[in-house]
Amino acid sequence: MLGRMRCLPVVCIFLACGDDPDATPVNPEATFPKSFLWGTATAGFQNDPGCPTLAPEVCEDRASDWYQWVSDPEVIADASSFVTGEPLANGPGMRELYREDFARAKTELGTNALRVSLEWSRLFPDGAAEAATTVDELATYANVEAVAYYQAQFAELKRLGLVPLVTLNHYTLPLWIHDGKACHRDLDTCQDKGWVDGDRIIPAIALYAGFCGRTFGANVDLWATLNEPFATVLAGYVLPSAERSHPPGVQFNIVAALEVLQNQIVAHARMVDAVRAEDTRDADGDGKATRIGTVVAIASFFPEDSNDPAGVEAAKHGSWVHNEIFLEGVATGRLDENIDGVLEGPRADLVGRLDWIGINYYTRLTVVPFAAGLAPGYPWLDFIPTLSDGFFQVYPEGLYDALALANRFGVPMFITENGAVNPGPDSGATFLLPHLRELHRAMSEGMPVEGYFYWTLVDNYEWNHGMKLKLGLYALDIATKARTLRPIGEDFRDVVRARGF
Ligand code: FCB
Repeated sequence: MLGRMRCLPVVCIFLACGDDPDATPVNPEATFPKSFLWGTATAGFQNDPGCPTLAPEVCEDRASDWYQWVSDPEVIADASSFVTGEPLANGPGMRELYREDFARAKTELGTNALRVSLEWSRLFPDGAAEAATTVDELATYANVEAVAYYQAQFAELKRLGLVPLVTLNHYTLPLWIHDGKACHRDLDTCQDKGWVDGDRIIPAIALYAGFCGRTFGANVDLWATLNEPFATVLAGYVLPSAERSHPPGVQFNIVAALEVLQNQIVAHARMVDAVRAEDTRDADGDGKATRIGTVVAIASFFPEDSNDPAGVEAAKHGSWVHNEIFLEGVATGRLDENIDGVLEGPRADLVGRLDWIGINYYTRLTVVPFAAGLAPGYPWLDFIPTLSDGFFQVYPEGLYDALALANRFGVPMFITENGAVNPGPDSGATFLLPHLRELHRAMSEGMPVEGYFYWTLVDNYEWNHGMKLKLGLYALDIATKARTLRPIGEDFRDVVRARGF
């Protein structure tokens, strides 16, 4: 618990802090601007499944590569996929229960924003959509039920006064463009190669983004193109592990991994162009119809042995590859295709396509040097992460470092995810508050951060882990679907309502 913050709920009951724009904490250590967005972050594939009464084929997104990855019996039986086989029915069922969860976010937590995702495979489950070459044509293939579902979600967010931050692609791809199971078996012979096949996926995802801009733009101004592109590179093509495995879960295919990275950079730019062209409606009346950015995971890199100069260099290279190459591409239009730390460009078709950067910050990562290199011809691929402590090592100072790293690109920033794994009663004091202190330190030094989104609202389907990792402010009872606010949720609510701590 947050010690002296314990008095805040009582204060709030009398002062109705959530509705009082001038509310400040008692003896504040830190306050945040009135315009600051406080939210929780969610993603469709993780939140939707597990509906209490809706038919599973409606509730679950069965047309996506991730559905195949976590539920196909052969993928589950294959130890090298690293999926648990957890039934999707154990999820929180937000496809059906979104109204009550949005109400929790607004009235119980007091947040003013929510990060949600649109699912390409829900909107276009049928591969016939790939024949479309214009947004008009693509619209004729849209799944009417899915469009209505998302329209209802946005209407509900608007009614509640929750600003939507919308991720266009949070990992999942339609099966018709990515057959993760076949590509896991053989990436050379599989037909639908997903991110590896830039000629197919870049125009297709750009058209999908344009469709979303046109269809939902009246209610949405804040768009994100991709979520954590490097997670797909690392866990999909280099180092799938029990910590994280993405379809196709291929080990050490560096050539494919680098193609995926470049294709994601170009896809980002084409998605931005498409959304800017199609979403010309200003949802919140601030004079800007579209503010489109991207969401990256930034980790703090450390050498396992800080006295070893090669280790120090390896950590620098790790940060470059994991944190910086994609950002350089989308923010400056410059590419490092042979991974030597030298940027080429800028490419005119990539520059000027970034309004903001979303940072998902969770962990520090340690690396060891690997002098032989991971692949010939790529000099800075000469490090290996040591995952012994996992992807979730608590290191609050890293949130400040991540903001400082991204701040060199000169655009506004959001913390689009930050959250504690399996939070205990003390996680408010040991996780939330130390991270918010670092956020406030960065802001008080002038870094332009516009919002903080906690991952996540309710325990959800945590990719290859299923329900084994719990990150919700609300704990989920899998059997009854009941949600219970955790102590860290109470602490987050108190900070949000007081706009500080
Ligand atoms: C991030 C993902 C998010 C969630 C958290 C725990 O990498 O963006 O969907 O799984 O990790």
